[in-house]
Amino acid sequence: MAGERAERQRYAQTRARFEELYGTRPEGLWSAPGRVNLIGEHTDYNDGFALPIALPQTTLVAARRRGDDRLRLFSDQAGGEVTELSVPALAPGGVDGWARYPAGAVWALAGAGHRIGGADLYVTSTVPTGAGLSSSAALECAVAVAFDGLYELGLTGPELARLAQRAENGFAGVPCGIMDQMASVCCTAGAALHLDSRSLALQQVPFDLAAHGLTLLVIDTRVQHDLGDGAYAALRAGCERAAALLGLPALRDLAPGDLDDALRTLPAELVPLVRHVVTENARVTEAVAHLRAGDTPALGPLLTAGHASLRDDYGVSCPETDLAVSTAVAGGALGARMTGGGFGGSVIALTPTGLVGEVTGAVDRAFAHAGFRAPVVRGVEAGRGAGRVV
Ligand code: GLA
Repeated sequence: MAGERAERQRYAQTRARFEELYGTRPEGLWSAPGRVNLIGEHTDYNDGFALPIALPQTTLVAARRRGDDRLRLFSDQAGGEVTELSVPALAPGGVDGWARYPAGAVWALAGAGHRIGGADLYVTSTVPTGAGLSSSAALECAVAVAFDGLYELGLTGPELARLAQRAENGFAGVPCGIMDQMASVCCTAGAALHLDSRSLALQQVPFDLAAHGLTLLVIDTRVQHDLGDGAYAALRAGCERAAALLGLPALRDLAPGDLDDALRTLPAELVPLVRHVVTENARVTEAVAHLRAGDTPALGPLLTAGHASLRDDYGVSCPETDLAVSTAVAGGALGARMTGGGFGGSVIALTPTGLVGEVTGAVDRAFAHAGFRAPVVRGVEAGRGAGRVV
C-alpha cells in the first residue's frame, strides 16, 4: 500500500538523519501516535471513562544508548542545536521548550528507579502541535517506549503511560489526566480504547468506519490550544472540590440517578461541571454499547450532545469549534464535537463518506465567512499504539 511505502520511507529517512547527526546508526526506531477522543472528555481526572482512538499521525524517535549518562536530543522541526543534558541532573524547571517532554520522560523513568543510562535521540513528528491532538503525549510516549526498548525495562503499556503522564505533570507542569498517554501507548489499529481511568482497565472496541460507509473527519480549527494556561487546572480543581463536598473519592462515583439530588447541595458554580462529568461518563457507556452492537451511526447524536455539554456546562469550547460542529452537522455529519482539552484545537465529525466533500466545503466556507483562519480537515482511521517500528 502507498501509505505503508511512505511510512517505510519516513523510517529510512529518520534513521539516515540520526546517522548524519550523531555519526553512528540508531539501535532502533520507536513510534507513538497522537489521538482523538471519540467521547468522554474531562472525565479522566475524575476517575471516569474515555474512548480515544490513535491517529495515523505519529512521533518517531531514533535512538541509541550511550556509555555515559548524557542525553542528547535533536529535532529538525524545532531547529537550533543538539540539546545536551545529564540524566541524573534532570529536574523540573531545568529544561525549556519542546525538549522538556522527552527530558521529562527520561526524568520520570530515572525517578521511578529504572536502570537507564544516557542516549542520543533524534525526533520527528507528523502529529500537528497545538491542535488538541496530543502531540506532547506522543513525544513523551515515544521516548518512554524507546528507553523501555533500549534498556530492556519490560514495562507494561499502562506503566509506560503513567510514566509519560508523570513527565507531563511533574516536569512539563501540566496537570493532565491519563487519557492521552494511555491512548498513545495502548490503542490498537481498527479499535477504540474503552478506558477506565481509575483502574486503567481497558477494552479494545472494534471501530470499523469503512464497513458503515463512514469517515471520521478531524477538523483542526487552528486556534492554538494550550492547557498550561491555568484554565484546565481550575476546572480540575473545581471537580475535585465538588467530589470532596459530596463526600466522594471522585465524580466518577456519582451515579446518574443521584445527580439531581447532588446538584441541589452544591454551590452554583460547581453545578455545570458536575453535570457535564456525570452525563459524559454515561455517554461513554452508551457509545461503547452502540459500537459493540455494530451500530456505529448511533454514535453521532452522542457526539453532538457531548459537544453541547462541553460548550454549555463545561465552558471549554470556543466560537471556532462551535462553528465547525454546527456547520458539519448541518452539512450532513451524523454528529460532531470538539475533542481533547478544548479552548481551541480540533473537532471530530462522524460523516457519511459520500458527504465528506460537502461537509468539508461547508466548514471551509463558514470559516471564511466568519473571518476565521482556514481550518485543516483530515479523514482519519483508528491507528495503532506506540512501539518499536524498526
Ligand atoms: C487533555 C488532557 C487529558 C484530558 C483531556 C480532556 O487532553 O491531557 O488528560 O483531560 O484534555 O478530556
